[in-house]
Amino acid sequence: MEKIPFMDLAAQNKSLESELNAAIAEVVQSRSFIQGAPVERFNKDFLRLHGGTYGVGCANGTGAITVALRALNVGHGDEVLVPNHTFIATAEAVVEVGAKPVLVEIDSEYRQLDLKDAARRMTAKTKAILPVHLYGLPEPMDQVMAFAREHKLKVVEDCAQAQLAKWKGQAVGTFGDLATFSFYPGKNLGAFGDAGFILTENAKHFEFIERYINHGRQDKYLHQFFGSNYRMDGLQGAVLATKVTRLAAWTERRREVAKQYDESLKGFRVLQPRAESVPVYHLYVVEVSNRQEVMDAFKRENIDCGIHYPIPLSCQPAFAPLGYKEGQFPVSEEMSARILSLPFFPEMTVEQMKRVVGVFRGVAKA
Ligand SMILES: Cc1ncc(COP(=O)(O)O)c(C=O)c1O
Repeated sequence: MEKIPFMDLAAQNKSLESELNAAIAEVVQSRSFIQGAPVERFNKDFLRLHGGTYGVGCANGTGAITVALRALNVGHGDEVLVPNHTFIATAEAVVEVGAKPVLVEIDSEYRQLDLKDAARRMTAKTKAILPVHLYGLPEPMDQVMAFAREHKLKVVEDCAQAQLAKWKGQAVGTFGDLATFSFYPGKNLGAFGDAGFILTENAKHFEFIERYINHGRQDKYLHQFFGSNYRMDGLQGAVLATKVTRLAAWTERRREVAKQYDESLKGFRVLQPRAESVPVYHLYVVEVSNRQEVMDAFKRENIDCGIHYPIPLSCQPAFAPLGYKEGQFPVSEEMSARILSLPFFPEMTVEQMKRVVGVFRGVAKA
């Protein structure tokens, strides 16, 4: 039986093979290995396509959050509100700058930040909030921004999984003080290695991040402050500049595939976008009460699937020193035990989807 992959990067690369090879050859020839013309081209193209005023490519999505927090002067003694249900990188960046991540429960309907819970976890040290547009499903940014204004918090949007997503017609990442993206190979727009992006509407923050990611440089050997090295590679810039020309079409296909799944999976709990959003479906996530049985059935039928993420941050060993333990976040713990990400990619065929749905329906319990 032919394998159905979780995502099909081979199909995506095949469709662009000659363009990608030419773009890579050009970098080798011009030796623009670090930043340079390919990265500058990508910066402009991504900014234009996604929306936003200032932006710069960087080394990866985790570093992007770290740099964004540094731009906001978040550090030792500060606390940052982070959803308990996200990839660990969101919280790691907070730790990296010396601040304390304070985990926030998710709501039981959309499985996004529970702002009432966030209010309960505020202290005099709370300086920022880090909403995550997980799975490409936008957070309700007007509510998040109202909360941030009320409590005088800075906002960094983690858009790692939400390239081109919108909330009420406005690009995610343009609501907060800064926003960050990941171009990890499996993302909706993925590099051939690590890469990320930082977006802001604020010229001063932009000036800081451009310098910070390049050793605080003003000139080749003139350093205004201690920065670091979070630059994007030229090869990644060239790959991304090539692939970004297809991102809108791939995203449209993601929406179509998600719609077909929605129609075939009526009666099951599928994570749904809020009505006011334009989602981009990085993943297609369902919830079941017998996940292991469903995964076993997929395995027998040569179908790949995933869990994003099986352990909430509060139950990760890394968080134990911060005093978190099992039982403290019932909604995220229950969700983590039930979620399953189905095979999902723009090139998915009707036949592949029928096979996935057939196996799923044959065994899954809501
Ligand atoms: C929600 C979220 N935040 C942050 C990251 C970190 O990005 P990167 O892997 O590029 O460091 C990722 C992706 O891995 C992610 O999914």
